[in-house]
Amino acid sequence: MSHSTDGLLEAFDAWIRGPFVDLNCTLEDLYWVQDDRTNVEGIGDALKERLLTEGRNLIAPILERWNGCSTPQEAYYLLGNVGYYMGACRRHEITLESRETESPLVEASALATKLGLMLGVAPRLVTSQMQYLNLAKNGDDRSFTRRKDEVFFVERNSMGQLNYLQAADSLARIEPLGLSHPLSLELLSQAEAALSRIVTSNVDLFKNLDVDRFFYCVRPYVKSYRVGRQVWRGANAGDLSAVAEVDLRLGLCSASDPFYLGVLAEKAPYMIASDQPRLASALQCFSLLDQLMAGAGAKEKWVGRAARAMLPVYDHVATIATQHHDMLVSRFIQKPTMTLLDKHMQTLTASGMEFTALIADLQRICDLRTGKQSDAIGSRHSDLGRLRELAAG
Ligand code: HEM
Repeated sequence: MSHSTDGLLEAFDAWIRGPFVDLNCTLEDLYWVQDDRTNVEGIGDALKERLLTEGRNLIAPILERWNGCSTPQEAYYLLGNVGYYMGACRRHEITLESRETESPLVEASALATKLGLMLGVAPRLVTSQMQYLNLAKNGDDRSFTRRKDEVFFVERNSMGQLNYLQAADSLARIEPLGLSHPLSLELLSQAEAALSRIVTSNVDLFKNLDVDRFFYCVRPYVKSYRVGRQVWRGANAGDLSAVAEVDLRLGLCSASDPFYLGVLAEKAPYMIASDQPRLASALQCFSLLDQLMAGAGAKEKWVGRAARAMLPVYDHVATIATQHHDMLVSRFIQKPTMTLLDKHMQTLTASGMEFTALIADLQRICDLRTGKQSDAIGSRHSDLGRLRELAAG
């Protein structure tokens, strides 16, 4: 028997875009005025109950009556809406993965898992649903609070992603032409322009995002949460193949490096399904740096002009990596977290260890992108030095 979800998806979407946002905002206001802004326990319990039940009452009939006939886009969009709900429940600690072994959001977990399996993606809210694929209706995209700090953060992350997509696309188009092709200079210049826009956008984020508002009122919505029994880690702006495509096509990171491959394998479920063939293609490419080194070894005539076009691209990638680590992660996460950890050192040692490991991994990726001199990580330090000489000479 075929069932119908007529009107149910629309009703859920209207709730996510309306009452859901209002509930989150009211709760944020209650948390914000406390001495300890991290505390959510015992605050606004009636509002949390409303959030939990109103969401459940909209999701349960969808789960029951969904006929599975929607397009993949519709399914992905619905997964995003369920993800907003589950992300908010985690933020308000209606669910807490350290307290439970199974999510109490039974219907939401089932629907998210079903959709995730059908689409071949993680069953949680991911960056594309919040950022570069976030559908606006009447000018407003989906949001937890629609407040200026969240809107600004999402917008800058989306700008970064759209520009990564453009850079990755330009670099991919060099592959069939070969680096010695004159058109590759134009493609490198397009990639350079896109990456330079990320540099500018990151500066804007660094200068204009409010540290406390971000740390206490935005970041908590993108934390890890449990779907059914499994914990899915928090969303981050790097979960798209374009970032890896740039790394691999430039040759800064290697498809033979188990560390970097591990980063990609971990990230894969958080990407949209159509990213997988793009990533697969980048994993098999003959990188630009390798092409340049081969041409230089053979003293071919195109090498100098290609090196001059490549250098600013590599410089921008290094700048973006340094900005991300030394400006964004440091200012908006590392410093505020360390302050908290110091305060609660007794109870939070485990999270402290985990956090230190996360920062160390981010540093290692940054070192690869900047070509830091280090045999231990397999950076392209000496080839980047050669690139600089070829560009100069
Ligand atoms: C306030 C701004 C930002 C902060 C605080 C921030 C923080 C972080 C943190 C802590 C991670 C580690 C993973 C995690 O915790 O989930 C991460 C990963 C990542 N972020 Fe950001 N981020 C910011 C903005 C951006 C922007 C604008 C981009 C550009 C698109 C970006 C790109 C990435 C990438 C690519 C990764 C994966 C690791 C890597 O490949 O470098 N982030 N970010």
